[in-house]
Amino acid sequence: MEKEINALREKLRKADRVAVLTGAGISAESGVPTFRGSGGLWRNYQATDLATPQAFAKDPELVWEFYNWRRDLISKVTYNPAHRALVDLESLVPNFTLITQNVDGLHLLAGSQNLLEIHGNLWKVRCTRCREITLDRSPDLGTSPKCKTCGGLLRPHVIWFGESLDQDILHRSIEASTNSRVMLVIGTSSVVQPAASLALEAKSRGAVVAEINLERTPNSSSMDFSLIGKAGEIVPRLVEGWK
Ligand code: OAD
Repeated sequence: MEKEINALREKLRKADRVAVLTGAGISAESGVPTFRGSGGLWRNYQATDLATPQAFAKDPELVWEFYNWRRDLISKVTYNPAHRALVDLESLVPNFTLITQNVDGLHLLAGSQNLLEIHGNLWKVRCTRCREITLDRSPDLGTSPKCKTCGGLLRPHVIWFGESLDQDILHRSIEASTNSRVMLVIGTSSVVQPAASLALEAKSRGAVVAEINLERTPNSSSMDFSLIGKAGEIVPRLVEGWK
């Protein structure tokens, strides 16, 4: 592992353009549950079954209970050494883009700047009637929060399964990935599109691609580096000794 980390650090040092994609695994060590695996259950529900427009249409109160639970939990945690190391990496690389599937806002809290939150942000809400988007950091919004402008039912301003990504953000993510010299994929199960294919596109355009995950993923065999372990331990080692 030591050898691989050193080799990847050298690739990063030489790269003028770096893209990073993160998923729920980077926040796991902060105490934020992942969507799949052992952290993916809330009460008796799979988290992935509640993050859908169908679940919200059927039972908005249940979905809001789930999101209030997530908001409350996330309001009590903070960024970890992996988030922090990516802030350091951004300061060391001339052209750096961080693409995250996470809605927890921890990259922003840590200080990342060139950040694309492709699945939205948990602290934003959107009116289902007038579509107005507002920022609301209260941990508990109740199970039937209403829009202050029109009285419509609010929903979390996040992308759910089956919903399209913001086209501008998607375009910028593809551009950053395909133009990168090195792309890191950290803590994502690499099963949700289009995020899952960003690293493969980068590789097909000549980028060195590296995965950091607790376990192997469907993308592991396509990676130039597959570092198995905790993000909070491995990512800081990639920037160690640079400053
Ligand atoms: P998942 O929950 O699918 O995957 C988390 C990944 O992180 C797994 O591959 C774990 O092995 C890995 N992992 C866990 N702890 C780790 C640690 N300490 N260090 C490194 N890796 C670790 O989460 P995502 O891939 O982010 O979408 O899921 C993608 C999307 O599916 C989410 O953004 C969400 C979900 O439904 C929406 O909400 C739209």
